[in-house]
Amino acid sequence: MPAPIIFSGIQPTGRKHLGNFIGAIQQYVEGQDRGRPAIFCIVDLHAISVAYDPDELRERVHDTTAILLAAGLDPERCILFRQSDVREHTELTWLLSAVTSHGDLNRMTQFKEKSARQRELVSSALFYYPVLMAADVLAYRATEVPVGDDQRQHVELMREIARRFNERFGEILVVPEVLIPEVGARIMDLQDPTSKMSTTSGTEGGTVLVLDEPAAIRKKFAGAVTDSGREVVRGPDKAGIANLIDILAVARGIDQDEVEREFEGAGYGDFKEAVAESAVELLAPTRERYAELRPDEAAIEATLAAGAEKARALAAPTLADVRAVMGFGPK
Ligand code: TYM
Repeated sequence: MPAPIIFSGIQPTGRKHLGNFIGAIQQYVEGQDRGRPAIFCIVDLHAISVAYDPDELRERVHDTTAILLAAGLDPERCILFRQSDVREHTELTWLLSAVTSHGDLNRMTQFKEKSARQRELVSSALFYYPVLMAADVLAYRATEVPVGDDQRQHVELMREIARRFNERFGEILVVPEVLIPEVGARIMDLQDPTSKMSTTSGTEGGTVLVLDEPAAIRKKFAGAVTDSGREVVRGPDKAGIANLIDILAVARGIDQDEVEREFEGAGYGDFKEAVAESAVELLAPTRERYAELRPDEAAIEATLAAGAEKARALAAPTLADVRAVMGFGPK
């Protein structure tokens, strides 16, 4: 088996949460020594699909870059860059739109949810978002896309776009595989465990941020919604406890059954405290390292610029092939 080409993207925000950390960032760090190469992209072009402030956007790209570096991404072992620095993404988006079905875009649940939440403009960028995602991945002929469960449908669509492109124009693109963690692919809001943890649609108290101080993390777990029972097990009507079991399992690197065995007979209070401590331990090194890295904006920009150069060198040949088979430029 040849080494995988790994690609994933992440939205620019300083408010990355425990779901992003467990569902995605930990997979990136694990992937950087497996991928040849492993490519990680801060998707600032995606961020303009909802209301935003241009100056803020620049800052948030730096925040996210610093979080990823602090979590363990090493620019010597992976390619870390800002999406808008590599123009191939936008060009490929338009070219892929020729083989993207409007009906498929219409079925995307993220578009339905996000458009329902918009109070002002529902931009066509929001509708078009999955095509840009497809371009992100297909430009690098990536074979593996590590994401959380909420991005599964978007990866399915990019596979369909690649297949349709190859059928129409010849085998130019690679159909990527989705990589979703077995446990922790969908971390739920602590206050509302039937909804995924999210900084845009979740509750403030139910969303644990990577950069939260330990006291804030403990408080959020202490207030986590559970159920009227008393057993630390997964099961019907136990979404809150099941979510806490997942978090503890991932944070300690053990399986869910082991968590259930360890807390047999324990009260919910003790269990919640243990989960809080494991989350504090999981996130603290990243928060501490972030505080050291974030102030040096010149170093962050230099990292992103070097990453963009490497990314461009990989994306440009794909674009040349795509343009050629689609009939652009001289023969
Ligand atoms: P974003 O920035 O919303 O989320 C980054 C990653 O975190 C995962 N995630 C979660 N995992 C577990 N539990 C949760 N509650 C949770 N919430 C979020 C997401 O699945 C994601 O992997 N559209 C993407 C960014 C993107 C992308 C790409 C991803 C742009 N282009 C190409 C892969 C490939 C997004 O908004 O992620």
